[in-house]
Amino acid sequence: MVKICCIGAGYVGGPTMAMIAFKCPKIEVVVVDIAVARINAWNSDRLPIFEPGLDEVVKACRGRNLFFSADVEKHVAEADIVFVSVNTPTKTRGLGAGKAADLTYWESAARMIADVSKSDKIVVEKSTVPVKTAEAIEKILTHNNKGINFQILSNPEFLAEGTAMEDLAKPDRVLIGGRETPEGRKAVETLKAVYAHWVPEDQIITMNLWSAELSKLAANAILAQRISSVNAMSALCEATGADVAEVAYAVGKDSRIGPKFLNASVGFGGSCFQKDILNLVYICECNGLTEVANYWKQVVQINDYQKSRFVKRVVSSMFNTVSGKKIAILGFAFKKDTGDTRETAAIDVCHGLLGDKAQLSVYDPQVTADQIMRDLAMNKFDWDHPQHLQPMSPTTTKQKPAFIFDGRNVINVEELRKIGFIVYSVGKPLDPWVKDLPAAPPS
Ligand code: UDX
Ligand code: UDX
Ligand code: ADP
Repeated sequence: MVKICCIGAGYVGGPTMAMIAFKCPKIEVVVVDIAVARINAWNSDRLPIFEPGLDEVVKACRGRNLFFSADVEKHVAEADIVFVSVNTPTKTRGLGAGKAADLTYWESAARMIADVSKSDKIVVEKSTVPVKTAEAIEKILTHNNKGINFQILSNPEFLAEGTAMEDLAKPDRVLIGGRETPEGRKAVETLKAVYAHWVPEDQIITMNLWSAELSKLAANAILAQRISSVNAMSALCEATGADVAEVAYAVGKDSRIGPKFLNASVGFGGSCFQKDILNLVYICECNGLTEVANYWKQVVQINDYQKSRFVKRVVSSMFNTVSGKKIAILGFAFKKDTGDTRETAAIDVCHGLLGDKAQLSVYDPQVTADQIMRDLAMNKFDWDHPQHLQPMSPTTTKQKPAFIFDGRNVINVEELRKIGFIVYSVGKPLDPWVKDLPAAPPS
């Protein structure tokens, strides 16, 4: 019987291991983490992350073949396959600060695996890492040469938050990269056999280690690029009277392009896109590929432009100042169906508005007030949960004109205009009110 241990009980490790345990009742899966509070939460009725369908899967196998433990070393030592799913944030200081991936957590996990191992192990890179990380990890694992064979595999995770359980149950593909040696191929087959419990074999793609590592960064960069492309179009739509939703629909009908990931928005967020692109940019620069680096950098620059463009629309529509004005922010996570606020566009938008001394009331059904306060790193704005989300006619509010700014293209613009709101929706034909305003001064 194969024993699996996963280091890191976060957004990736937790749901992924829960799905493996659920689909492979004969495999014992232990998820370990140095954060004891996180492990306790995984063992409680209130899991540390919100993900539709996760509760049910965890309840079905926790205590059967799925375990959460803070006894990291014991379970790593006992495992045949060790997944490493620790955080790899962007470096904040030193060489490559602001771009390169910080592999501190990875390195310490690898050192620990090397120290406690007494039997051969397959070590699987699950968290996104820069290309060639496997080479560095291999060096760490084999440095004290205890005669143990470590095989490093790259098995990047493609789940998106909010749909993690669906993505895991029915992945578009599973990618496994390994060394092209007999031992490497055997390790690839062992991991492939785990996924083959529920993923059709032709969807389990095997390739060399470096291709697998780079494919993950490439997939995220190209997905983010689609959003920046459509967001760039949204600015042009506003300037010309085109409707970005119509343009995206027409473009997406081309089977070579496809309809997904073409929703204009206030900007992409989340822990992956920006981080992975910056990482890609850094790798290109390190390889002397300045033009390639600049090409990808532009995807992040358009995203920043889109966020500041949104703030400018709000401020300029409200007579070039929001000082003292009450603004309700509905939704704070980086997208729907998640409580995750990492890199959410809402933080930049709130900062922009607070910078102009607006009074904000923020509400998100999945994000705690504490978390929002921490993200905005201030604690003196007013707090108000909306009682209901039905739009109220501005005739019932004291302040007129009343405004709605839609950064997600989710509201019915015409209906709200009919009852008297001044509405701005990204990439849609502008409200005459907004259109006739003088442009906001450059920031
Ligand atoms: C293009 C559009 O496809 C078509 O919808 C539009 O009406 C006119 O412009 P065309 O220029 O005839 O059509 O050919 P296309 O097949 O798009 O190829 C354009 C160029 O891109 C070619 O040089 C082709 O070799 C290249 N290409 C295409 C690639 O380098 N890689 C690809 O994956 C696809
Ligand atoms: C992403 C990748 O989709 C996933 O494959 C990878 O494993 C991790 O990174 P995630 O960040 O969880 O997943 O969410 P995703 O659905 O990709 O959304 C990212 C951001 O893009 C969100 O802020 C979302 O609102 C935004 N987005 C997405 C758009 O603005 N428009 C779109 O059309 C799609
Ligand atoms: P992701 O979104 O990639 O899953 P998270 O930050 O949600 O990232 O989760 C990563 C987890 O890895 C955290 O809970 C962190 O405590 C854990 N972790 C980091 N380093 C180690 C380590 N050396 N040993 C065990 N757990 C670790």
